[in-house]
Amino acid sequence: MALIGVFDSGVGGLSILDEALRQLPQNDYIYLADSANAPYGEKSSEWIAKRSLALCNYLASKGCDAIVVACNTATAEAIKQIRESTSVLIIGVEPGIKPAAMQSQNNIVGILATEATLKSDKFNALINTLPNDCQFIKQAGPGLVPLIESGKADSEETLELLAKHLEPIQVAGADTLVLGCTHYPFLRKAIRKLLGESIIIIDTSDAVVRQLKRQLESLNIKSDGKEHGSMLFISSKDEAILMSMAQDLMSADLTLHSIEANILGEVR
Ligand code: DGL
Repeated sequence: MALIGVFDSGVGGLSILDEALRQLPQNDYIYLADSANAPYGEKSSEWIAKRSLALCNYLASKGCDAIVVACNTATAEAIKQIRESTSVLIIGVEPGIKPAAMQSQNNIVGILATEATLKSDKFNALINTLPNDCQFIKQAGPGLVPLIESGKADSEETLELLAKHLEPIQVAGADTLVLGCTHYPFLRKAIRKLLGESIIIIDTSDAVVRQLKRQLESLNIKSDGKEHGSMLFISSKDEAILMSMAQDLMSADLTLHSIEANILGEVR
């Protein structure tokens, strides 16, 4: 049996879980949302690293064969420490700036991510590996994660705030937008409304899950042949709300899986 842990500061990682259920429905999953502490993106590097490490160790202690750090911010601040602290397979996520630079026709790429991701050494090292003929417009999106966490992804309030954050990207004439936070795929409709149908949107969920699949195969970690595995949702805030948001936000049919939800106790 393959048990996969998926961790995020809140409901953002559901965008990765959704893709995981599409490509790998037979695995068992634990989805861990630290919604009591979201957003991570405006917290200090030290806090993010310590908390992410503690929560990934918690998932490892539950017997996960692999853990997806389905949070760009946690990956940027803590992936190295997480990998060093466990022998469990760890898959991280990072803003898809390389594919964006390759797909952009006019070499102007907008990046919408959290403040912490944009400031991180990992992100800046990544951007420095790219040829400098591409112009990157980096934009933080404060306020967006709390709106998505409170179920307002499709609201007028979110559209207004998003319009403000996307303005510099629009003014620069970007033809490609990187979604550098796993919460942002849930704003796809609003983004299309503001930037139109022709903008190329780069979301790395598909690539992340393909990577997970390859790694599970190479380590010979197999599921036990069921068609649909089980699903345990754990929230540090409200497990019933997490479960109902998962049903609303994800396109996967969760009724095909046996679902349970728990509240997260204290984790050190
Ligand atoms: N979903 C997360 C990310 O991908 C973090 C958002 C937040 O908590 O600020 O960066």
